[in-house]
Amino acid sequence: MRLPATMTAIEITESGRPEVLRPAERPVPAPAAGEVLIAVAAAGVNRPDVVQRLGLYPPPPGASDIPGLEIAGTVAALGDGVSGWQEGDRVCALIAGGGYAEFAAAPAPQVLPLPVGCGMVEAAGIPETFFTVWSNVFDRGRLAAGESILIHGGSSGIGTTAIQLAREFGATAYVTVGNAAKAAFCEQLGAARAINYREQDFVDEIKALTGGAGVDVILDMIGGDYLPRNIRALRPDGRILQIALMGGAKGELDLGRLMTRRLTVTGSTLRPRPVAVKGAIAAALRQHVWPLFEAGKIAPVVHRTFPLAEAAKAHELMESSAHIGKIILTVD
Ligand SMILES: NC(=O)c1ccc[n+]([C@@H]2O[C@H](COP(=O)([O-])OP(=O)(O)OC[C@H]3O[C@@H](n4cnc5c(N)ncnc54)[C@H](OP(=O)(O)O)[C@@H]3O)[C@@H](O)[C@H]2O)c1
Repeated sequence: MRLPATMTAIEITESGRPEVLRPAERPVPAPAAGEVLIAVAAAGVNRPDVVQRLGLYPPPPGASDIPGLEIAGTVAALGDGVSGWQEGDRVCALIAGGGYAEFAAAPAPQVLPLPVGCGMVEAAGIPETFFTVWSNVFDRGRLAAGESILIHGGSSGIGTTAIQLAREFGATAYVTVGNAAKAAFCEQLGAARAINYREQDFVDEIKALTGGAGVDVILDMIGGDYLPRNIRALRPDGRILQIALMGGAKGELDLGRLMTRRLTVTGSTLRPRPVAVKGAIAAALRQHVWPLFEAGKIAPVVHRTFPLAEAAKAHELMESSAHIGKIILTVD
């Protein structure tokens, strides 16, 4: 492919409101050794991009300052030492930044083929949430068939992914949501019950739904005062996976309950992890999850697309929390 010298990308011109996201001309990145250059057809928008725009989540060393953690497109060029991919291959990839652009470079181990039957828009919505949910819920959290999970933020990109994977791997999923429409959607997607956290106490509801026992696993993006409540909603040997702190980084932990019920509180952030770790997650997804896409059993939930130049509008929508599932930017 003949590559142009420059491309349109969305810059964070300063920290602040969505309008600080503006189109700019940037050089097309040259793929380094071990990287694949992708002509981007669509890029996923994730809450961490919003936090980065606010100046609270800087890119890790070496990552692009352009936002965007996941893309789908076609392979445009290969860096030295890359095998297994060819120009023109249709792929999606997890990246540490640079997705809101016409071209982006991805480490080869983080590149996956488009699942058969999946379009570019849908595929762009896969990597960030599927890598995150797989590595937390299934790797660290060891969610097993027959167990139960409480997923906070059930209608989020992360939540709609976790509901589907829990369902497919034989676990019972309960979710929290902020309104009735989101509750109905999550239950139709496979949640056994959606709890409206604005109207109901999720601890009481989980206790009632599980005969007083509690759940095995909690996927939490809230933190703060959800921590003591999560601890009360867990059954013995239960595990909390903390993946964000929308309610604050500090919470009260009842160590007595932690000891006597043998609970685990852990968590992770995906972006700074090494390529080898992300490559191992990619391989697990290809083995265990790609067949589910290709059998039509799961699909990314896409709420709305915006043209790349309207990234600011996409962020406004995400911050409104009116969406259910993923918001995607499209590139002509
Ligand atoms: N650790 C990692 O590696 C990693 C990776 C990716 C994403 N994340 C984090 O995961 C979270 C979800 O990301 P996303 O891109 O899927 O964002 P998103 O679609 O914007 O989801 C945010 C969700 O939070 C829900 N929410 C807000 N306050 C709540 C509360 N008090 N109780 C329950 N739910 C509440 C909102 O739903 P309602 O409207 O119903 O309130 C919304 O669905 C973000 O915090 C993000 O930073 C972490």
